[in-house]
Amino acid sequence: MVTLRIDGRKVTVRKLSTILDAARKLDIPIPTLCHHPELSPYGGCRLCIVEVKGSAKPVASCTTFAKEGMDIITSSPNLEQLRRTTLELLLSDHPTDCMVCERAGDCKLQELAYFYGIRENRFLGERRVYTKKDNNPFIERDMEKCILCGQCVRVCDEIQGVGAIDFAYRGLKTKICPPFEKDLNCEFCGQCVAICPTGALTGKMWTHRGRQNFKEVDTVCPYCGCGCNLTLFVRQNEVIRISSKENTINKGWLCAKGRFGYEFIKSPDRLKKPLIRIGPKDRSANDSAFKEVEWDEALDYIASRLKEIKAKYGPDAIAGLSSARCTSEENYLFQKFMRAVIGTNNVDHCARY
Ligand code: FES
Repeated sequence: MVTLRIDGRKVTVRKLSTILDAARKLDIPIPTLCHHPELSPYGGCRLCIVEVKGSAKPVASCTTFAKEGMDIITSSPNLEQLRRTTLELLLSDHPTDCMVCERAGDCKLQELAYFYGIRENRFLGERRVYTKKDNNPFIERDMEKCILCGQCVRVCDEIQGVGAIDFAYRGLKTKICPPFEKDLNCEFCGQCVAICPTGALTGKMWTHRGRQNFKEVDTVCPYCGCGCNLTLFVRQNEVIRISSKENTINKGWLCAKGRFGYEFIKSPDRLKKPLIRIGPKDRSANDSAFKEVEWDEALDYIASRLKEIKAKYGPDAIAGLSSARCTSEENYLFQKFMRAVIGTNNVDHCARY
């Protein structure tokens, strides 16, 4: 453990903690744009600078380890001026189309510009102009809004293990893109969208469908047994977008299905009632092979057929196929029902197809 002082307050943290970790332990706010607690330190944005007594220059608190006896200042006229200048430089090459930006109101850069009261751009000069549109089906990439914080690159590599994007070129031309600037062709988990602090990466499915005044509904993903926590952004009884909170079991990370696979909710093809299959002998030529019934009728039918089959052929003539889309508890109950009630070990599930 190491003990240091931050803004006059003593704090003890584990070895290899950063100054930023120590400040957060004391709830001392330090602005950041490229830092994420689940990703490796990067030190790119320089907003988290702090003064270390005895050091000639400020240091980035997100990449500097806390050391025994350190004395840190997190806010001073000099630090605030440096942070302000850094923000002005970022904004000098950033579109100011907040009126139509998908992330307005939820953009870290906008929030910091507001906090530091930056209205005018005093750094005039060449700006990035990217006209290429990415034709991938899920992720809108507006690289003029990218602040090169690198969080998308790190999350894709370190959390998802895909490495679909990286920094390319150098200097003013530096940009984040897939290899050879091709269209994005990845797993489309959307972690990069979730982590992007600006409007550079957003979901195509929810573009121009609203930014605020959503009802937020916390729920569990219906796709597999992992049970990832979702937050649905609902307006007028329709799910507009899905994200996940950082303090959940899945730490806010989702897969493509959880994040983008929600259009089935309003699909007109969705089954709302049980169907009973009608054999060819019992239906006329134009009849459907299925009859829609109420739950009571369906359950009675299943119970009577199971009893009949078991009495005639024995329990092993019956097999149960469960689903990875059920919860662990539901799957447990299902196998219990097959073994204890039906009397067979013929249980399987769709994930083994
Ligand atoms: S948060 Fe530390 S340099 Fe960006």
